[in-house]
Amino acid sequence: MRTKIVIDCDPGHDDAVALLYAAKHLDLVGVTTCHGNNTIGNVTRNALSVLTLGGITAPLAQGCADPLLGRKSQVASVHGKTGLDGSFLPEPDRAPVAAHAVDFLIETAHAHQGELVLAVLGPATNAALAIKKEPRLVSWLREITIMGGSTGLGNITPVAEFNIWCDPEAAAALFASRARIRMVGLDITNTVGFDPAGIDRLLAGGRVAHHVGELMEFYLGRELDRRGIAFAPIHDACAIVPYVEEGLVEYRHCNVGIELAGRLTRGMTVCDLRPLTPQGRADRGVGEANAYVAVRIDAKGVVANVMETLLSYS
Ligand code: BDR
Ligand code: CA
Repeated sequence: MRTKIVIDCDPGHDDAVALLYAAKHLDLVGVTTCHGNNTIGNVTRNALSVLTLGGITAPLAQGCADPLLGRKSQVASVHGKTGLDGSFLPEPDRAPVAAHAVDFLIETAHAHQGELVLAVLGPATNAALAIKKEPRLVSWLREITIMGGSTGLGNITPVAEFNIWCDPEAAAALFASRARIRMVGLDITNTVGFDPAGIDRLLAGGRVAHHVGELMEFYLGRELDRRGIAFAPIHDACAIVPYVEEGLVEYRHCNVGIELAGRLTRGMTVCDLRPLTPQGRADRGVGEANAYVAVRIDAKGVVANVMETLLSYS
């Protein structure tokens, strides 16, 4: 049976790829949007355009414009002015549903109790608020898969990854919720993306693939300028991979703490990957394992799988 999934996202070039990838393989029962890569208005419009492009009929609910504390402080310039620069996507063929994303998540999880995976591909604001509003959500969900954090370097600061940094308090609430969480961080997703030859394949493909090729061309240009990386990363799709094909991502059960106070380290995910026996853990006062953290990915396998999927759109 196809996994039922709801995707909370902030498109975003790699979010767009993740939506198209998930919709082909999984039962995409809904999409919600969150501030992050751009304003809530722009990411919602972008998500609707991507759904329209892919002929994906899943309902979309718009979510939070700001993090739990304060106001949205920064957009991700790597995705351009609109949050999804590089291709003229179709006008959205529908408006968001009337429900707020937080209520939509609660209602959808209630309707599919025990079956639904929640993918958080942007800041965790909607997910954290939904759990706060309806704590039973944690037991209604099968699991939560997150693209965010890092076991190593960050991107928005030396140690913080963008999604977690955008709303660290929300991420902390999520990791403390006792939900079953899979986290794929930047240290892993940074190795997975489309190189120029891959982008040429997309450009030569059908209408959907061609649009994605244009988007990836833009994204690669930005990554090259900013970080000297010669491919367009597909961070968010990596969080979807385990439900499409087993064995491409390897996870380890461990404790993840979110740094909230550090002047230089706010938004850092402190992943305790030390090899410790239960006795060692007790001695060192290590927190309980609260997440499955990705430690290895078959980057070539993932890129090939996502590429084939995008080319399969007529
Ligand atoms: C994450 O930040 C966003 O810019 C991407 O969409 C991805 O979710 C990578 O750090
Ligand atoms: Ca994203």
